[in-house]
Order: sequence, then C-alpha cells, then structure tokens
Amino acid sequence: MEKRTELYRGKAKTVFTTDNPERLILQFRNDTSAFDGERIEQLDRKGMVNNKFNNFIMQKLEAAGIPTQLDRVLSDTETLVKRLTMIPVECVMRNFAAGSLVRRLGVTEGQPLNPPTFEQFLKNDALHDPMVNESLAISFGWATAEQLARMKALTVQVNQVLSALFDQAGLMLVDFKLEFGVDAEGNIVLGDEFSPDGCRLWDKETKKKLDKDRFRQGLGGVVEAYEEVAARLGLVI
Ligand code: TMP
Ligand code: ASP
Repeated sequence: MEKRTELYRGKAKTVFTTDNPERLILQFRNDTSAFDGERIEQLDRKGMVNNKFNNFIMQKLEAAGIPTQLDRVLSDTETLVKRLTMIPVECVMRNFAAGSLVRRLGVTEGQPLNPPTFEQFLKNDALHDPMVNESLAISFGWATAEQLARMKALTVQVNQVLSALFDQAGLMLVDFKLEFGVDAEGNIVLGDEFSPDGCRLWDKETKKKLDKDRFRQGLGGVVEAYEEVAARLGLVI
C-alpha cells in the first residue's frame, strides 16, 4: 500500500490517497479542536489512542452488521479505509441531555432522553455546524430521502450496540456524532471516526466526564481519560 498525496486536512485527521483508487489513508493527528476549530492544541498520544480506539469500535460495529469504511490499521496513527463520497450531514444521537442541547433548550444536564433523540447538523465550521433537517437536506441535494432514512436507522443501531458495550464497561454513552458516506456501489457506509473526540462518555457511578468535554471545559487529563475508557473496554493501547 503506497501512500500518495494529501487529499484533505481536517481539524484532527488528514486524508491521503493511495495507489488503490478505492482506498484512502486516515492519519489521526494529536491536534485537538473545540468550538469549530477556534481552539486547537496538540495532546501527546491522542492520535495513536484515537486511531486504536476507532479501530476497536468500528470492528464491533462491523460485527453487529453495520457497514463501516474500515479496512485495516496500518500503523499507530494510520488506518486504511474505503473511499467514500461523504455526506455533509452530521447525525447526532442523544441518550442524556448535554452540550448544545442543554444550551439551546435550558434543560438539565444528565436528564435521560426517552426515547433517545436524533438530530442533524450541517458540517460547516464557518457556520458553526447549524442544525438542519431532512427537508433541507433533500432540497439542497445533500442526500436523498432514502439515504437519510438509512443514516438514521444505522445511527439508531449504532446507539443500541455501543450503549450496551459502554454500559458493560461502567460507562454512560451520553451522546455521539456520526458521519456517513456513499461507497462505489451506492451503499451508505459509516465513515469518519468513533472516538471520545466525537461522543460523550460518563462514569456511571461518579458521572466523571471521560471525553472531549475535558478539553472543551479545561478539566485536564484529556488523553488519560480516553485511555481509561479504552482500558475499561479491554483495549490494550
Ligand atoms: P453538541 O452537544 O455540541 O451538539 O454535540 C453532540 C455530540 O456530537 C457530542 O458528543 C459531540 C459531537 N459532535 C462532534 O463531535 N462534532 C460536531 O461538530 C458536533 C456538532 C457534535
Ligand atoms: N468537533 C468540533 C470542533 O472541533 C466541535 C467540538 O468538538 O466542539 O471544533
């Protein structure tokens, strides 16, 4: 597998082309960003931890029948993935109120959401990822109604699989964000990453935050918290 040119540099990952037109390389960097890129810091080991964490979670999801872009890990910080055409609609599932939901609706942080809620945001840092809906996504051609229905169904399934997985590790999956793309055959496939950068995880007993909120809120011990989550899942990093 030959790594070729840089295709896209995101806030925390860089995407490279390879000698295979159907494969890309995701490189997980130590950059940690919050508030849509307004604050970026390098946190030692984060790229490696997130790469390994993402690989572990994507394998669990594949085993549960969810199509993911994962091919194989190449190094501590690099993973080979299927090339997808990404859909710019972020899918957020919430089991407990936190983050922007608390700010927007004035509800209490930690309040259980029954059933879990599903929200969609446009991936656009300059506009601070505004909330959108299915009607807007269809009208602007970001995705078809069928694609959006599939994305929602897969997000619900991911929530079931991962809520159970984290629960067994003594953790609450408070919320998470997924990004999907379309593969060469036109299938909706889970892309991007699943790591503590893009979800909220609390200790079930103490409610200690073990995700990127430690960075957003200046709580410290960010990568240590990610490693604690990994260790509780039985993942050796
Ligand atoms: P929010 O509370 O800020 O709307 O975020 C909900 C969840 O989605 C939280 O786990 C963080 C994640 N998320 C991202 O990782 N990136 C994003 O751009 C957005 C909007 C949310
Ligand atoms: N992922 C976004 C950013 O880095 C939003 C966030 O996580 O706060 O800026």
